Amino acid sequence: MTEANPLRLQGPILGETAFPAFPSPPGNIAEFHDDDGFQQYPGNGSGSRLAGLEIPTGLDSETARLRREIGLWQSPKMRELWGTIQQAARVDITVLLRGETGTGKDIVARAIHACSSRRAAPFVKVNCAAVPHDLLESELFGHERGAFTGAHQLRIGKFEAANRGTVFLDEIGELHPALQAKLLHILQDGSFSRVGGKAALRVDVRVLAATNRNLERAVAEERFRQDLYYRLNVIQIMMPPLRERMEEVPLLVEYFARRYAAQYNRGEFTIPAASVGRLAQYHYPGNIRELENIVKRMIVLDDPNLVRVPFPPQSIDGSAGQPAAVGGPPTVGAALASLKDIARHAARAAEREAIGRVLTQTGWNRVRAAKILRISYRALLYKIKDAGLDPTTQPSAPTH
Ligand SMILES: Nc1ncnc2c1ncn2[C@@H]1O[C@H](COP(=O)(O)OP(=O)(O)OP(=O)(O)O)[C@@H](O)[C@H]1O
Ligand SMILES: [Mg+2]
Repeated sequence: MTEANPLRLQGPILGETAFPAFPSPPGNIAEFHDDDGFQQYPGNGSGSRLAGLEIPTGLDSETARLRREIGLWQSPKMRELWGTIQQAARVDITVLLRGETGTGKDIVARAIHACSSRRAAPFVKVNCAAVPHDLLESELFGHERGAFTGAHQLRIGKFEAANRGTVFLDEIGELHPALQAKLLHILQDGSFSRVGGKAALRVDVRVLAATNRNLERAVAEERFRQDLYYRLNVIQIMMPPLRERMEEVPLLVEYFARRYAAQYNRGEFTIPAASVGRLAQYHYPGNIRELENIVKRMIVLDDPNLVRVPFPPQSIDGSAGQPAAVGGPPTVGAALASLKDIARHAARAAEREAIGRVLTQTGWNRVRAAKILRISYRALLYKIKDAGLDPTTQPSAPTH
């Protein structure tokens, strides 16, 4: 684990954390020069360039922020992934971003667009889980005047708005089946029609998609179209969880501390080495988002020594957080760290119980069990395997 250095929020901070330079990418790529006054990583001069980053410099604050955040990818895992991200950016194909919640998939999507030949055109993000599906259809594809009650005028959708640019479909696993078909169409030949419209329109967009869900399971359970899955999954980028790139914790702490100290008018805010060391010992089930919130709390409560901010944070089940198990599997505490996870956990337990009961009733006749449970035979087989159900360990069928 990287030794934690003290981090100050004024003066040359970033130079205090020493990391080797980013590997040079293959090919003839322009080097990255930071000209907006924010120091580069690693910051102490020699070998400090973030090679290969073709994002135009100093254009706007959003681009500047993206460059800084990409600059924090200093762990071996993220450096390796950076090569893949750049390669993916250079070819005009669909990319599927995977990884746990809070790992930075949004930043990767923006980085791909910013490093691609489409960077001068719009980057349009749509969260597929945030809008009900009937509204989402018009959000994505637009609608003609009079298409439905309240459609007083023609409205173009996100795909048209992103013409020549990139559409980022976040939480793609939540996309309604009716829209999955329409998306497949647009991915196949760029054609679509607005809601209530007959004309086939064409757009030139690149699609990026992200999910923190198990899409393979959704395909097996027939909730997600297999053909769409293959269309989206041309290149897959798997974001590692923060516990597998703990070298980045001191850099992230410094970055968030600087950002939120400025936002909350805290002036100089020094985080002592001991606190950074403690922050580098936790397993972060919520990944970077969780670390960000902890630092935010430290600043708001003016608590650089982690006295008032509960740390390690209490898991939602009441247990204290586990120390970081770098590279290891998530702990039970991690699995129960969010309400979403608890709901998923409970649903799976209930499902396992119901499947086990029906299998026992049918004497492990899987065809009959699938009929009773009203799922496909294939989905049942998958679930049996996934739940680790086994006829030798299940109670036998009742005899009455
Ligand atoms: N390299 C980074 N530098 C600075 N902030 C980061 C970095 N990576 C992630 N973050 C911050 O962590 C938070 C979570 O990141 P992001 O929204 O990209 O996660 P995600 O993988 O899309 O998660 P979800 O699956 O929940 O949508 C954001 O506030 C983001 O700004
Ligand atoms: Mg996201």
